[in-house]
Amino acid sequence: MPTEAVVDVGPVAHGGHCVARLDGQVVFVRHTMPGERVRISITERTTSFLRADAIEVIVPAPGRVVPPCEYAGPGRCGGCDFQHVDPAVQRDLLGDVVREQLRRLAGITWAGAVEAVDPEALGWRTRVQFAVDRGGRPGLRKHRSHEIIAVDRCLIAHPDLPVVPGRRWDADTVEAIVSSSGDRLLVTDASISDEVEGEVDGVVAADGTTRGGRGAVTERVGDHDFRVSGSGFWQVHPQAASTLVGAVLEAAQAAPGETVLDLYAGVGLFTAFLADEVGETGTVVSVESDPGGSRDARRNLHDLPQVRLVGETVEAALRRGSLGATADVVVLDPPRTGAKKAVQGIVDLAPRRIVYVACDPAALARDLASFASRGYRLAGLRAFALFPMTHHVECVAVLTKTGFDLR
Ligand SMILES: C[S@@+](CC[C@H](N)C(=O)[O-])C[C@H]1O[C@@H](n2cnc3c(N)ncnc32)[C@H](O)[C@@H]1O
Repeated sequence: MPTEAVVDVGPVAHGGHCVARLDGQVVFVRHTMPGERVRISITERTTSFLRADAIEVIVPAPGRVVPPCEYAGPGRCGGCDFQHVDPAVQRDLLGDVVREQLRRLAGITWAGAVEAVDPEALGWRTRVQFAVDRGGRPGLRKHRSHEIIAVDRCLIAHPDLPVVPGRRWDADTVEAIVSSSGDRLLVTDASISDEVEGEVDGVVAADGTTRGGRGAVTERVGDHDFRVSGSGFWQVHPQAASTLVGAVLEAAQAAPGETVLDLYAGVGLFTAFLADEVGETGTVVSVESDPGGSRDARRNLHDLPQVRLVGETVEAALRRGSLGATADVVVLDPPRTGAKKAVQGIVDLAPRRIVYVACDPAALARDLASFASRGYRLAGLRAFALFPMTHHVECVAVLTKTGFDLR
């Protein structure tokens, strides 16, 4: 089979590529858009499909732009997927992906649109982990490869991040972090020069121990401050935390005196705001399995007596019945793999509402189907462009026993 061909590109698919056909076989093509005719170079063959890069655009689609980043494109940095697409059209593509996953995996029709959180699609990423090549240069990996593409700058990186590119590093990785309060941290085992040390508030080793200065940053959302240690979990877009808190509170509709579970709670972002909603007569049970995240949550939530912290996996806590017999509202924000093993345990608590925050629409759709088979139907879903230039999209879904109001 030839390694190059010309194809007409069909719809976008989950993962930052579009679907085309070549001699009856499905080809997942990167660096293209639906409706384009492109020359492709095949990058991978499996028994059921091919992967390819668009290496020449013969007929462009409306919304194609010149990528602002010099490292974007076939065979180059794999950090972004849609640098060649106008940001408004990127949101349309992400909406199509969410729609297709919901339809195919859960039989749900969703007519909503992905919401922008910021008119600017560059300079948003407040946490970037660079890989270091053999020459000590920081870079990002090629798509589906361990190969490191050294970069002198990353356009989606926040301008206030500690500067990693342009310097040599003697460790495998260097993560740069800047918080909403302006704290700057490096997470790395590399030697740190006096110059670099003077530019940051702290340096943390890859194993989480503090090497110098502060070992954590402070993130501020509304009236709440959150300590986040080293590379502990925190949303990377500056607008993400407040956007998701707003969407979660709107979806949860928690009332004073109620019992709410915050599952996969990280350092306690949603827990703090849910605690405000239920007040001192209510209860929020906050479940996080990562020891570092649990430690931070303990410090972040110590002045909220209505919060009970549980430091174990959601699945184990549900299995042991340690989260109580019932709950009024359950909020869950699982990692990319979703919450397949927690669905039955959540349903057993008979909550009035379930609010599912999801960073992977495929895992979300799979779990929504599982909830639906147990009597909880989708009542509303919002999607947010919290990772511009990439194929990632964040959804907030609300489930009830009746289902209504679907957007
Ligand atoms: C997507 S983050 C959400 C964190 C938090 N809701 C926020 O927005 O900052 C998922 C969190 O779940 C935690 N986690 C992963 N698997 C878990 C499990 N099985 N049980 C409990 N927590 C888990 C991770 O450590 C991480 O903090």
